[in-house]
Amino acid sequence: MTTLYRQIADELATDIEQGIYGSGQKVPSVRQLAKFKDVSISTINQAYGLLEDRGFIRSKPQSGYYVREGLATLNTPPPMSLGSEPVAVSKAEMINQMLAICNRPSHVNLGAAIPDLSFMPFRALQTHIQKSARFDARGVFNYEFSPGYEPLRSQIAIRMRDVNVRCHGDEIVITHGCAEAIALTLRCLTEKGDIVAVESPCYYGFLQQANLLGLNVIEIPTDPNTGISVDALTLALQQWPIKMVAVTSRFSNPTGASLDQEKQKALVALAKRFDIAIMEDDIYGELGFTEQKKTVLKTFDDDGRVFYCSSYSKTLSPGLRIGWMLPAKRHIQQVIQSQMYTTFSPSALNQYVLASYLKTGHFDKHLRKLRKVYADNIERTMDAVRRYFPDGTRVSRPQGGFILWICLPEQVNAVRLQHACSEQGISIVPGDIFSNGNEFSHCIRLNCGLPWSESLKDALHTIGRTALKLT
Ligand SMILES: Cc1ncc(COP(=O)(O)O)c(C=O)c1O
Repeated sequence: MTTLYRQIADELATDIEQGIYGSGQKVPSVRQLAKFKDVSISTINQAYGLLEDRGFIRSKPQSGYYVREGLATLNTPPPMSLGSEPVAVSKAEMINQMLAICNRPSHVNLGAAIPDLSFMPFRALQTHIQKSARFDARGVFNYEFSPGYEPLRSQIAIRMRDVNVRCHGDEIVITHGCAEAIALTLRCLTEKGDIVAVESPCYYGFLQQANLLGLNVIEIPTDPNTGISVDALTLALQQWPIKMVAVTSRFSNPTGASLDQEKQKALVALAKRFDIAIMEDDIYGELGFTEQKKTVLKTFDDDGRVFYCSSYSKTLSPGLRIGWMLPAKRHIQQVIQSQMYTTFSPSALNQYVLASYLKTGHFDKHLRKLRKVYADNIERTMDAVRRYFPDGTRVSRPQGGFILWICLPEQVNAVRLQHACSEQGISIVPGDIFSNGNEFSHCIRLNCGLPWSESLKDALHTIGRTALKLT
């Protein structure tokens, strides 16, 4: 139950976010607000203390409380991106170098989007590993050929009903993480020199794989909250022979943007009109903070052009490397063949383990807990950004997932910031890895999948202080 002082603090925070009280403006005095709300002075003192902690207001001795300067821009989301013309990916090597700095085990990991082990049901998974190895030895120590372990595919088919996709286990291919699902989709749909449209900024893995396959990439203007611009994509389709569009439809990486249902329908209709395919990456899809009506692009795919890709890397374990895809029906044999030529199928043991875990029905309970933790972490990280980051910083407002997209003032070079933070034992990801261009060189992505602690707050303070020095 929300306590009264929290409720009052939340109301005032909303007023500030909506600009009713502007940057630097005085908020009602403690006495005034107590009288107006008909509550005690100490309740308002507690509410103002909380708002001060959250970085919304500052007290001035003998004068009262004021909205923190610079807050107005933080509450303005980052602007729509500009997009690009189709080009070959030229930054793959640079992306690898930047990623190498992100994955240092001794660092506070605010970089790589990896959920902390303590959030994962690893004890339950350990039990299922032992159980599967013991009771299913014939299966787990053998090859499991594409399209993968049937009971796992059936479990996934049932879960796909949650997003109104009524498929059968036979339509699903188990993959080595979402990364293999993306690779199989690109190999199935494209040839060297083809043009693929992506969000801008987009998941860097799309750029790396496009580079590997010799594809050209066109970045489409994208709103950090509402996702890819369907209008801009329409213009691009009129101008260029685009083969497919790759979209992370819910809680995209790095912005956290989601497509609402109208936009999902419009995007599928557009793909139909120009006869192109869609690669839908929904890896964060099960991590929404609110109970919205759930649909994905695949929900509206009535003529088989959406390749749906996902995995358990963000919800159960990235190390088990289990993902899945739902190719367009007419391409499934091609996908299976392609997987047989390369990996056969992921580890049999891990497929058995996940099928066994999903059968218990505990996954939904785990997800409910995870969503709450991530929603709290996002809120707390935003509060820390509000308090410690330079004036003029803008932040996206994801409604799910565990990453935050932060645009710092333009003078800040995020790669320099990454190096400076790394020297202080903190990993962050610079915006440059999410685009082939330079539009996001003042942006960073933060991983909020860590248990909240004072040392984490200190690390965010250090990033803010270091960024301030670079302005
Ligand atoms: C949007 C997106 N797609 C795909 C992947 C790769 O997922 P997996 O580890 O399951 O291969 C990631 C991992 O960070 C991601 O963020």
